[in-house]
Amino acid sequence: MTVEEGQIKALLKSSSKAADVIREHVEDGGLVRVESHLDADGLAAAGIIGVALNRLGARFIIRIERWLDEQVVESLSSGKQDLTIFTDMGSGYLDILSEGLSEKNVIILDHHQPVGEPPETFIQVNPHVHGIDGSRELSGAGVTYLVAKSLNEKNIDLSHLGVVGALGDLQDKHEGRRLGGVNSIIVEDAIEADLLEVERDLLLFGRETRPIHKALAYTTNPFIPGISGEEDKSLALLSTLGIKTKDGDRWRALRDLSKDEKRRLFSGIADYMVSKGLQSEVAMSLIGMVYTLKREEPWTPLRDAREFAVLLNATGRMGKNGLGVAICMGDRGRCLQEANQVLEEYRLTITKYLNWLDENPDRIEELNNIYVVHGGRSIDEKVISTISTMILPNLPNPEKPLIAYSIIPDEDYIKVSARASYTVIEKGVNLGEILHSASERFSGEGGGHDVAAGAYIPAKEIDSFIKYVDELVGKQLAEGTKRSGDGG
Ligand code: C5P
Ligand code: ZN
Repeated sequence: MTVEEGQIKALLKSSSKAADVIREHVEDGGLVRVESHLDADGLAAAGIIGVALNRLGARFIIRIERWLDEQVVESLSSGKQDLTIFTDMGSGYLDILSEGLSEKNVIILDHHQPVGEPPETFIQVNPHVHGIDGSRELSGAGVTYLVAKSLNEKNIDLSHLGVVGALGDLQDKHEGRRLGGVNSIIVEDAIEADLLEVERDLLLFGRETRPIHKALAYTTNPFIPGISGEEDKSLALLSTLGIKTKDGDRWRALRDLSKDEKRRLFSGIADYMVSKGLQSEVAMSLIGMVYTLKREEPWTPLRDAREFAVLLNATGRMGKNGLGVAICMGDRGRCLQEANQVLEEYRLTITKYLNWLDENPDRIEELNNIYVVHGGRSIDEKVISTISTMILPNLPNPEKPLIAYSIIPDEDYIKVSARASYTVIEKGVNLGEILHSASERFSGEGGGHDVAAGAYIPAKEIDSFIKYVDELVGKQLAEGTKRSGDGG
């Protein structure tokens, strides 16, 4: 899908309207409350708006939420803020927000599919409203960046965070793992501001300074079973491929490899992945555009924008979102140090659960139209979303969507994450819609994007919920087939 100039103009116009309203409130001395989402995109968005508000001299507070529900709305409706800004969340829950906050000044900067209509008192900036696909062409951090830039040209120095947010939401779906659509404007801003360099290479994490075996082990998208998270096995693979890991005493990094060595490395990994039953397209996704943040130190996880996003995700998922926001707002001292430890813990947690799933294949069930990962009490609900993203391409039939769930301790609720490949989406499946309507039916909350959606539902409903989701996917597939058969 291409984005037309008229659509971008309309989006920018709505961004500048939101910026005007923010400026007015700040000039009046009002208190601003920002509510953002817990994932990498949400944290990057929070960082952008945080810096932008700071520059305006605003009084503000930032809160990060797992999801939007009545409790959050209740706390907002009784809050003392003069203006509430939602970033990377809100559009999927316009009904709940309208009910609880119609008397409040609300700005929503989001890229989730809008569900319902905002009341007149709300300002919503969302690419979907202008016919732009928010799951691929612009992230929550991206929308927030457009507003920040409209507030002050100086905020162009936050453009790299728009890039990080988009990569965190896996929007690099254009040819050669490139960001496209409105995201390209942000990429160009970041290049112009001398913050970003974009080139094509193997997409291993930490290609400039990290020893190759570590870079391999740290790479999780695509997830390479037996290699991702496993430094020893990565070393063994390199030795099988005859790639020297050291120059004298010094470990070699990816940048030290010759073209021929890189070629050998890629085809070695690709052969290995195919031997593990993965599709060759998954291996192909190891090559693509690398987004390097030039101002970050080469040995930190902030240098590669994808890795920056993983770090942010780690802080959010491991209950340390304050670190993520602080890093986005510029902290490179204690917070970064602590976040590095959190990242290590997160990697270990993810590897542990992926190995557990490998050893317990019966936890992955194939239904008519979907796969189900029964995380139950065994997978921590905080990382079920990451786990579902990682295993989707590794399932035997990548054309079937996946839903994964975990029981939330001490709550009678279950966290559900759903993911689908673009091939399924092209056939007419929309997980955001499906999870929204299935959640509604079983007294939960849910929604999201066509390719990635989530829900929060009462534990006792899980079996019926899964059955219903399976049916809805089947229905959308049948309708999609019918539509394409009709020539439309
Ligand atoms: O939580 P998870 O990463 O699986 O969510 C995928 C997408 O669905 C996210 O963009 C999230 O904002 C959205 N979501 C939602 N409502 C929920 C849970 C997730 O809109 N209750
Ligand atoms: Zn997002």
